[in-house]
Amino acid sequence: MESKSFFNRGKHTFSIPAKLYKINRERLCERLKNVKDVTKNAYVLLKGGESTTRFCSDHEPIFRQESYFHWAFGAEEPDFYGAIHVDSGKTTLFPPKLAPEYAIWMGKLKTEAEYKDQFEVEEVLFGDQIAKFFQTAKPSMILTLYGLNTDSNKYSEPATFEGIDQFHVNQTILHPEITECRVFKTDLELDVLRYTNKVSSQGHKEVMRQILPGMYEYQLESIFRHFCYYYGGSRFQSYTCICGSGENAAILHYGHAGMPNSKLIKDGDICLFDMGAEYGGFASDITCSYPVNGKFTEKQKIIYNAVLKANREVLKAVKPGVNWVDMHKLADRVQLEELKAAGLLKGDVDQMMVVRLGAVFMPHGLGHFLGIDTHDVGGYNYGGVRSSEAGLRSLRTNRTLMAGMVLTIEPGIYFNEKLLDEALADPERSHFFVPEVIDQYRGSGGVRIEDDIIVTATGAELMTDVPRTVEEIESFFTQRPQPQMPLPDKISEMFAK
Ligand code: GLY
Ligand code: MN
Ligand code: MN
Repeated sequence: MESKSFFNRGKHTFSIPAKLYKINRERLCERLKNVKDVTKNAYVLLKGGESTTRFCSDHEPIFRQESYFHWAFGAEEPDFYGAIHVDSGKTTLFPPKLAPEYAIWMGKLKTEAEYKDQFEVEEVLFGDQIAKFFQTAKPSMILTLYGLNTDSNKYSEPATFEGIDQFHVNQTILHPEITECRVFKTDLELDVLRYTNKVSSQGHKEVMRQILPGMYEYQLESIFRHFCYYYGGSRFQSYTCICGSGENAAILHYGHAGMPNSKLIKDGDICLFDMGAEYGGFASDITCSYPVNGKFTEKQKIIYNAVLKANREVLKAVKPGVNWVDMHKLADRVQLEELKAAGLLKGDVDQMMVVRLGAVFMPHGLGHFLGIDTHDVGGYNYGGVRSSEAGLRSLRTNRTLMAGMVLTIEPGIYFNEKLLDEALADPERSHFFVPEVIDQYRGSGGVRIEDDIIVTATGAELMTDVPRTVEEIESFFTQRPQPQMPLPDKISEMFAK
């Protein structure tokens, strides 16, 4: 049945049908029915994210739904529970029972019937009915969600309610099964991810239209966020914007509270902007690297083209059956060959691969699953084990690719002082470097080129659409209209009045 209910932020934004979540629940039930320990009349019980307040205030930060709950129900509000009958897929949502006074502060409280229409579930009961619901349903077992997230190293918090101990509760079956469902995206989910990529790609291009030396990094973050929200309906970003310029481009998680994208961008700086809008709970994750003035120096070109070659070689190689660790190694090899050709390295590239020299320049993983979370779940599902080798240990998945997976491809080369100094002090690796040439690049930052792709039956679909070659970037700058945003000096005048 087609949906009557959709999530969108106006006609100009993408409409996500409630059916997307129904299909996800059906997929989960089909999977669970094949798990031998799941008995007839079992129920899944999931708990949504909780509303919180700041410590010293009743101010509520904007709520963002817990990702598994979002995947299953698409509900944007906090303090929900949801139950799914595994045999039939029949779904009961439990919004919180709020006292009537809440209407004074929050507007009209929705009825059960209104929630039922919105989420297109079979039943809605308020949260004070959970125990009674299960007493009537007499489940053979209640499957709750408990498991490790291999990126955050945190365990999910299983749903509970007063009286749950009267029932047979299993906390371990559900996590790997629902996680595996999330690894493979449905056609409806792919359409949302294509949209988030369109919004973010356009947002990056808007930043490229406005950027000038003399701006602060955070001002470009601000342009991106404004664009994605105003035009794309994206209230959230998928992650904290990383807007490094000059040497900051080498700081992988730049933009954090201690380095809040607050440097003045100088003429000649390379900019590395890693920014992705979230829409309807789905992420995007795109990095563009380019000189602030729109014209690459020879050295910037060498590094940029090495990274672009790695990105494109991986894009060409991706197809079902290919292992992601091998893709990381392919990117490493291409980048090492290019650095050798440019005179920064010397010696045998095979030997460089043996000592994992690539990790000096690319300490992070080549890419990761993308979906409801930026670093989406399932990279090491069913007990997969991370490599302990440099670079490879940062990979968020070591899986063999299959159609329907969505990943980022994000090779990079960075001139990170700490990693370079360590490698130069290590006899196993130091002989590969040409220090006097490396020194010419120190302090220049780095380059990352990050695209989002879908693994298809025969290869990959590239969702990201931004200028990528040196020629495309330089011609984008020469053809762009006059930037409109005032520079800091002009802004000082505005505030002086
Ligand atoms: N923006 C985070 C990442 O690239 O993984
Ligand atoms: Mn990424
Ligand atoms: Mn990124």
